[in-house]
Amino acid sequence: MSDSDVRIVVCVSCRDAGEDNSRPGAAFLDALQARLRARSVDLRVESVECLAVCKRPATIALAAPGKWTYVIGDLSSATVDDVIDSALRFGESENGIVAWKDRPQCFRKGVVSRTPPLT
Ligand code: FES
Repeated sequence: MSDSDVRIVVCVSCRDAGEDNSRPGAAFLDALQARLRARSVDLRVESVECLAVCKRPATIALAAPGKWTYVIGDLSSATVDDVIDSALRFGESENGIVAWKDRPQCFRKGVVSRTPPLT
């Protein structure tokens, strides 16, 4: 499996609970794409309207064929490198389950759910 089989799905619709009503997922997506280019990492990134974790922005899903899918919340532009590292470890894993000791902090603290592969 190549890194490009891994998808990072980013919700761009969440609104910040603060007064400014900003969209942290959209800012996260911009920061993520910039860091992927800067690091020359080939991961697929997709935006979606909602991952049903609206109170924990920014929110992503890590998905790949034959692997468990993880939904992770509480992300920000400051965590994009951890997300990239999480996605790379996810891609290297046999079934999507990454050992706790190998997970970046956001992958330890922010997991909302995991769903088994379809096959
Ligand atoms: S609007 Fe982002 S998870 Fe629902």
